[in-house]
Amino acid sequence: MLVTESIDDLREQVKEWKRQKLKVGFVPTMGALHEGHLSLIELAHKRADRVVVSIFVNPEQFSPDEDYDSYPRKREADLEACKENRVDAVFIPSVAEIYPDEDFLEIRVKGLGDHMCGASRPGFFEGVLLVVNKLFNIVNPDIAVFGQKDIQQYRIVSRMAEEFNHDVKILKGEIIRANDGLALSSRNSYLSDEERLLAPSLYRSLKYLEKQIRGGVSEPGLLIEHQKSELEAKGFEIDYLDLFSFKDLKPVKKLEGGREYILAGAVYLGETRLIDNILIDN
Ligand code: PAF
Repeated sequence: MLVTESIDDLREQVKEWKRQKLKVGFVPTMGALHEGHLSLIELAHKRADRVVVSIFVNPEQFSPDEDYDSYPRKREADLEACKENRVDAVFIPSVAEIYPDEDFLEIRVKGLGDHMCGASRPGFFEGVLLVVNKLFNIVNPDIAVFGQKDIQQYRIVSRMAEEFNHDVKILKGEIIRANDGLALSSRNSYLSDEERLLAPSLYRSLKYLEKQIRGGVSEPGLLIEHQKSELEAKGFEIDYLDLFSFKDLKPVKKLEGGREYILAGAVYLGETRLIDNILIDN
């Protein structure tokens, strides 16, 4: 397994694979790898001949009041996990390697970033697109895998790949959950024991709403409000809990046949932000 901090070395390796007509899969991460990431790596193995994982905690996608400094960094354990999961190259650059100069170009996200996490984390998707754009140009993958847990990120990155003509196919990896339903996330490590017991309530609310919708409820607004109150009573602070259109990520009041939807929520439990979602095709 190649482990490199260098853009040039990574590029050389990928060029060599491409000379051999091998298909390159890419899984971008911020490290602190868990089973969710490993399932994305597994999907990349299924669809490509060689797999590159990047590990980079991207400062551009954290606002000053967010957890950039305390974000878990686990270099040795991550490299071990990559090795065990047959990763062919790990790109683990320094901040200076990715951002050597002050940027003078800016990416602005319109439309798809207006709601959900984009509404409460200004600059977040701009930061994600900046780094993913750079990583695509560095790695030059044939396929890249993004997790469904960050569904808005998956949709926005897919759109960027189209608009910027990146020659890469974006794949969506499923959400991996703990036995009690909590979606795996590197940030779950922030939860206290008590918070960890409460945390699956978000998924339970989403599952309840999904059941009602699949059972024929087409205007779930009141049910959603009720679930919000229940979560608040348990100690959650709600950022959002709503039904969104898969296509444009706008909130939806009434479901229509033949459309795809996302039931999604973001909540705070103490200092920890949890997100989760369920896809519904009606
Ligand atoms: O999903 C993540 O871990 C990050 O947003 C990504 C895609 C690696 C960009 O920094």
